[in-house]
Parts: sequence; C-alpha cells; structure tokens
Amino acid sequence: MTFVKFGMIGAGIAARYHLAACKNSPIVKFMRLYDKDEKNAKRVAGAYKITPFSNLEEFLSNDIDAVLIAVPHFLHEQMVTAVAEAGKAVLCEKPMATTLEGCDQMIEITRKAKVKFMIAENHRFQPAHQWIKDAVQKGWVGEPFLIRSYEGVMEIPNLMQPGFWKGHPIKAGGGSLMDMGAHKFATIQWILDDVIESAYAWLTKQCTNLEEKAEDNAMVFLKYKRGAIAEAVVSFTVVTPPTNQIEIYGTKGSIVENHAWENPIKINSHHKDLGSNRGRWFEPKVEHGIYPKYYDISARREDEYFAACILEDKEPEFTPEQAKDAIATVLLGYLSAELGRTATRDELMEVARTKGTKSILEKLNSVIQNNYLAR
Ligand SMILES: NC(=O)c1ccc[n+]([C@@H]2O[C@H](COP(=O)([O-])OP(=O)(O)OC[C@H]3O[C@@H](n4cnc5c(N)ncnc54)[C@H](O)[C@@H]3O)[C@@H](O)[C@H]2O)c1
Repeated sequence: MTFVKFGMIGAGIAARYHLAACKNSPIVKFMRLYDKDEKNAKRVAGAYKITPFSNLEEFLSNDIDAVLIAVPHFLHEQMVTAVAEAGKAVLCEKPMATTLEGCDQMIEITRKAKVKFMIAENHRFQPAHQWIKDAVQKGWVGEPFLIRSYEGVMEIPNLMQPGFWKGHPIKAGGGSLMDMGAHKFATIQWILDDVIESAYAWLTKQCTNLEEKAEDNAMVFLKYKRGAIAEAVVSFTVVTPPTNQIEIYGTKGSIVENHAWENPIKINSHHKDLGSNRGRWFEPKVEHGIYPKYYDISARREDEYFAACILEDKEPEFTPEQAKDAIATVLLGYLSAELGRTATRDELMEVARTKGTKSILEKLNSVIQNNYLAR
C-alpha cells in the first residue's frame, strides 16, 4: 500500500478544512464522504470529486482503509464505534467525547477491534507548537513554571441559532471550553509532559440568552503536578479573525507565540544552544501562515501523520489516553464552576465513579454567569 484510502463522515466546516488540506497529498486520498444530509454530502463531495453517501452502512461497506469523523460532538462515540466495528482505522475530530465514560468506551471498542485510533488534535501538528515542544524538551527555557494560552473565534451567528448543536451543554458537551479548551489542554499537557492536579474556572455567557447554549467565554487556572501553573482563556465572541496564542515562562528563558504573526514564535533564552541568539528575542523560522493558512498546514500534517502510522504500522504518539486527559481537564473546569471553588482531579474521578461525568454537563447552564441577562 502506498497511500491510504480515507472516507470522511460529516460535510461541515472541519471536513472542508481536511479535504482542502489533503487535496494534493501523496499518501492521504479522500475517496468517499458520508453525511446524513444528502444534499450537503453531494455538494461537498462534488467540489472534491469524491463519492457521496447518505447511508452509513453503504459508506462503510466499501474498501476504504480509514475514516475521518467530523460530526457534532455527541455523535463522536457512536461513529467511532461504527467505524471501528467495520474494521477501519479511526481518526476522530476533537474533542474526543463529551464525557470520560464516552472516552473509555471509544478506547475499549477500538482496542477490541484492533484498529488504529487517534483524535484529530491539529494543535499537536502545528509546526509552531511542535517547535515549542522540542525547545522545552531540549531545556531551552529550563523548567517551565508559568503558561498562558488563548484561543478566540467568532461563533455568535451559530450561538444565536436555536437548535444548532454548537454550544449546547449535551450535544456539544458545553460551550467554548469544551470546544477550544480541549485543544489548549492537550497542547499544554504535551509541552509540559505533566499531569493536571486542580482547576479553577470562570464561565460567562455573553452573546445569547438561548437557554440551550452553555458558556461562550471561559477562563481556567490550572495547577500541574510538578508545580507549574497555567491559564487557558477561550472566547466564542471575539471580533477578530480566529487566532491562538501560547506563552511559556521557564527558569532559563521564555517563549511567546501568536498564530496571528507571520513569524509566530519569539524565544528569549540563556541556553548555550541558542549561540549568538542567547539573551535576546529570536524568531525561528517555522512553516506557518495566519488564518486560515495555519488550519491547512496543521490538518495536512495531522492527516498525513495518521496515514503514515497506518502505512508503517506504528501506533500514533498522541494516544487516546492523552486525548481523554484533555476532556478530563475541561470537565474539571466545569466542576470547579459548579462548586464555585478549585476542583481537584480526585473530586472529578469521584463524580465519574458515583454519578457519571454527564451529571456535570446537565448542571452546566445553571452555573454560568449570565452577562446577557445582566445587561
Ligand atoms: N480542529 C479544528 O480546528 C476544528 C475546527 C472546526 C471543527 N472541528 C471539529 O469538527 C467536528 C465537526 O464540526 P463542524 O464545525 O464541521 O460542524 P458542522 O456543523 O459544520 O458540520 C457537521 C456535519 O455533520 C453532519 N451530521 C450531523 N449529524 C450527522 C449524522 N448523524 N450522520 C452524518 N452526518 C451528520 C451535518 O449534516 C454537518 O454537515 C467537531 O468535532 C468540531 O469540534 C475542529
């Protein structure tokens, strides 16, 4: 096999990012697309000259090797199950699932079916993030003690739409924190190579009073086991093009990164490896482009990485357990908002053991500060 034949489930925004990103890939070939909305399936498949399906069984009964799942969050678990049971490798969009129980179910099903499984966490494939991970691993900032991270997008039109899944506590597993916090937490945990211990969160609802919508803005303070502290700030209501930022402060240097800059990284480090760039702000060159280019770059690298894992029969480095950890951190943030204080990972696990983590999402709307009503 020299390339991997992919099918796509879902024909929405994310599907189009992946299809465009891999259009000329030598190892990722999207051949088929399934969406329950027949018209949508035909329209998007037509644009990429692939075969549309509006029946899942028919879509899965052909000779594709792998499937990329890009549907609303509450459907991830059932789609992963269907694809794994059909014997295909599974690449599923973030967030893995909306509950820890859903994540466990996916891990069990894909292990039982002996298929490759990775969550499509494109932030781990962003060249700027990979550069930062390597720099931290090489000790260029010493021991990181403080991390700041941010993602902002404009989702107000979707959040004003009654019935649309985005921002729904159950259908989306929450609002901005589940949607974008999953990226932030997977990235921070990967860079730090550490385990989350506790979290404190503020959640606000800014743009809509639709009862079915959860928070559209969130700020979370995190404490990791080795002592580093971090903040994650996410917004569904910013009046800018989408962007991301991360800052890492360590005992020997600092890194600031912003996807909105042409050269996204600046490092100031006293490490000897930096040579003549020691002790001054230095901008390394990485593959990057401001929105929407960085989506294209990370989606291509991610899908090609997963294809390479299939072709070379190796397990993806980003494990389902790490993806589950990001969901645990999101839920820890929601639990903290419910308790009105710092929540510990042990408390989250106690909820998982006793009531199940869906119980956190069921209470979510009642714990969000409603700025819309206050106006
Ligand atoms: N990595 C990223 O940066 C990024 C960006 C956007 C979205 N996403 C993720 O991609 C996923 C999809 O998000 P989106 O924004 O594309 O959503 P979307 O609403 O634009 O598209 C979802 C598609 O799924 C289809 N669908 C719904 N129910 C279905 C079913 N039962 N069977 C088949 N198809 C069904 C819809 O018809 C729609 O075409 C989510 O997990 C989201 O978080 C990731």
